[in-house]
Amino acid sequence: MNPIITLKDLSFSYEKDWILDDINLSVPKGAFVAVIGPNGCGKSTLLKTICRMLLPQKGSIQIKGKDINQYGHRELAREVAIVHQHANANFGLTCEEMVMMGRYPYQTTWKWENKEDSKIAKECMIYCGVWEFRRRSMSELSGGEFQRLMIAKALAQQTEIVLMDEPVASLDLKYQIEILRLCKKLINEKGITIIAPIHDINLAIQFSDLTIIMNKGKIVEYGETRETISHTNIENLYDIKVKQVVDAEENIYYFPAI
Ligand SMILES: Nc1ncnc2c1ncn2[C@@H]1O[C@H](COP(=O)(O)OP(=O)(O)OP(=O)(O)O)[C@@H](O)[C@H]1O
Ligand SMILES: [Mg+2]
Repeated sequence: MNPIITLKDLSFSYEKDWILDDINLSVPKGAFVAVIGPNGCGKSTLLKTICRMLLPQKGSIQIKGKDINQYGHRELAREVAIVHQHANANFGLTCEEMVMMGRYPYQTTWKWENKEDSKIAKECMIYCGVWEFRRRSMSELSGGEFQRLMIAKALAQQTEIVLMDEPVASLDLKYQIEILRLCKKLINEKGITIIAPIHDINLAIQFSDLTIIMNKGKIVEYGETRETISHTNIENLYDIKVKQVVDAEENIYYFPAI
């Protein structure tokens, strides 16, 4: 099957050093792809190039076989949504208004938001457990509630590709699992593709199909999660000793050896 995202010889720099250094990547449709790697290795930068927030100096990106630069603004926003690691709260908006902003790629000069948009926004808010906050200002949410609201907005965009930067980093244990289960459900039922930097390697192992290991702007490993997140790769990547625990169902967990 043709990949839904293809990166060829991609390099990006903010100032002088290459932050992404000759990246080649092919992502199949319907995969949950985790990205792991140390702070500052380029994970968020990678996502920002895939949604065209940042323009690479070298190389190319194809979305569904078409060069990213050939897409119109709304057209691209109907294919790729992003949940940022550090999103800004737009303090003037209610939570429902924020999620409705996810519907903007479907609006034109002739078609403003309608009942269908409201219905989709409501469904996404219920999915993410934020419907009860609909009339509240975004500024009143806790960190985890805000994160779930941003995920609801991205889902309301109804794209085939969702880039989720550290989607569960500020969530409590229950919502970490619920949001990742929701991601799996969307993949299974709607065939969407997710790329998500995740620091918690045990969650990455449990939920992702494929894993990209990044270090210093390069992809050092990419493949099936179970093979890619290995004892040796984790120790080398973070330069620490880790303990491996295998439970009765043969799930593997890694913990830093303290
Ligand atoms: N706007 C910017 N201008 C200049 N340098 C930047 C900018 N944004 C990020 N950087 C630098 O680029 C490098 C990669 O940053 P990036 O945010 O992609 O890392 P990351 O892998 O997502 O890290 P983390 O795990 O901490 O989220 C870092 O060294 C960072 O300081
Ligand atoms: Mg980041």
